[in-house]
Amino acid sequence: MGNSHEEIDIIRRTLRYCEAGTTHMESGLLRNPVSHYANAQRLAQEQAILFREFPIVVGHVSQLASAGDFFTHDETGVPMLVTRTRQGAVKAFMNVCRHRGARIVTEAGGNATTFSCPYHAWTYDLEGRLRGLRQPAGFADLDKSEYGLVELPAFERYGLIWVRPSVSEAPISIDAWLAPMAEQLASVDMASLVVHKAWSVELNMGWRIALEGFQESYHFCSAHKQTACSAYLDNQSVFVDHYPHFRHAVPLAQTVELQQQPEADWDYRANYMDQNYLFPCNFVQVMTDHVFIHSVIPTGPGKSVFKCIMLVPDDVDLSAEQRAKKTRYWEANYNVVCTVFGEDFAIGEGIQQGLSTGVNEHFVIGQFEAGIQLAEKAIGDALDERLVCPQTLTVIE
Ligand code: FES
Ligand SMILES: [Fe+2]
Repeated sequence: MGNSHEEIDIIRRTLRYCEAGTTHMESGLLRNPVSHYANAQRLAQEQAILFREFPIVVGHVSQLASAGDFFTHDETGVPMLVTRTRQGAVKAFMNVCRHRGARIVTEAGGNATTFSCPYHAWTYDLEGRLRGLRQPAGFADLDKSEYGLVELPAFERYGLIWVRPSVSEAPISIDAWLAPMAEQLASVDMASLVVHKAWSVELNMGWRIALEGFQESYHFCSAHKQTACSAYLDNQSVFVDHYPHFRHAVPLAQTVELQQQPEADWDYRANYMDQNYLFPCNFVQVMTDHVFIHSVIPTGPGKSVFKCIMLVPDDVDLSAEQRAKKTRYWEANYNVVCTVFGEDFAIGEGIQQGLSTGVNEHFVIGQFEAGIQLAEKAIGDALDERLVCPQTLTVIE
């Protein structure tokens, strides 16, 4: 069935836990100070480090399928322009004109051969080179090669596009960064999928509150009683630490039946939902037959944006009738997930409103709320500069 050793191990662990009436446990409780959720100084530090020094997912390769395809990305506070060049490379630039700083591309996306600034029409190509300026006689001494767009490190891996939202002097090794998750990301084959839908939700909650909704399944049978609860085993998540990322494997209700089957017949993908955390702010949520890419990005104190891309298999080989049927099926899945996320977001906004009451000095994170514990560790390490990502993944002991 193509399961990895890790997946076989996860299934074995799930079955063991179910039999013993237990679940995945970290070694102790985590008392996480409320200041980690609502402190202006902490937020500024998070934005300056987590959302500048590390690569984040900004899109799927099908959103830059052809030369000249582009999209913009602004939520980190850095206006970014991401393009596919004539040579087929993905490039990212600061979407800021080198003349007097105007925003060059105002659209969300499209296809172009050049980008012309709306202010005085300085024109840049897909590689970010300054190609032309109106009435160049007034800039006779200008060396155009010094006024190209400022480039950001951009990468295409596993069907996704990553950008580091700040200039890097040294090259970043994206492969070293993603190595702990490489086997799993490759197995999902996201490059073969297409975007069914991409959407954003502005949230009245700090980004960490939104993030944590994907890092445990303890809440499924209370917060999602009428929706997700029945589909999954209650609070039976298995977590695999791939620091600074992790795999969060949520067994579907029928997973217990694998006990009766020989291991050779096990099919991991058909029995689990994975909510894989990619440090610092992304999730690759792998469903049995489709995938969601989530990004949770702070936009201010008590504010964040949730961006989601729903990826589904390409339907080019299907008949028109089969395609319509598939589209209805994906729409139904989309509607379910929006309902479930809506339940999470309503609770998250309530948490945000309660933060200022001072009722809690810390939030107490249970032993089975393991994803929150693992992410808190990695985030803390990055803020304290123990985890850095300049050239390769380096943890300074
Ligand atoms: S600011 Fe862009 S051309 Fe003047
Ligand atoms: Fe949830």
